[in-house]
Amino acid sequence: MRKIIAVLTILTLSLVQMNAAIAQPPPKDPNNYVPGLGDLMGSLQVQHGKLWFAGSQENWPLAAYTVDAIKEGVADMIVLRPRYKRESIVEMLRQLTAKPLEDLEEAVSEKDSELFIQAYDSLTEGCNVCHRSHDYGFIEIQRPTAPAWTNLRYRP
Ligand code: HEC
Repeated sequence: MRKIIAVLTILTLSLVQMNAAIAQPPPKDPNNYVPGLGDLMGSLQVQHGKLWFAGSQENWPLAAYTVDAIKEGVADMIVLRPRYKRESIVEMLRQLTAKPLEDLEEAVSEKDSELFIQAYDSLTEGCNVCHRSHDYGFIEIQRPTAPAWTNLRYRP
């Protein structure tokens, strides 16, 4: 009987330990830092802002570079942070950004200012549609009114 109690106690204790291990978040490994969705969105905001000034000043090489950075930012989100509050945001990310980014690429390669503005606004609307549908309607993205980064020359 004593033996059985001892075995049961050990079993119970190890179960408690296992549970504790499961409940704890994985330790943060500084060599494997994964930026949060908010961090990735922050860099998207920076690129979105730069793109406006690059495109409206017809600095097409800079605009092309920035469109590419936005595409990479979206691709990073899909790989690194595909979920928000456990729900996949992958489809929405793709659906809301693919067409505007494609049009922006076309605008840049054709040096088409009118298409640039149209595609830029539709990308911006894509940002806001997703924010609204995740209760972040107060994070409203718009055309920037002044460049946030004045150490970068936008004029070609
Ligand atoms: C598929 C959905 C989705 C799309 C598309 C999207 N966002 Fe977001 N965004 C979110 C969510 C969800 C949050 C809140 C993230 C958090 O706080 O963890 C967020 C937060 C943000 C924030 C606040 C970040 C911070 O912590 O300061 C900025 C800025 C932002 N987004 C910019 C953009 C821009 C610019 C675009 C478009 C180019 C965009 N987002 C497109 C879902 C989206």
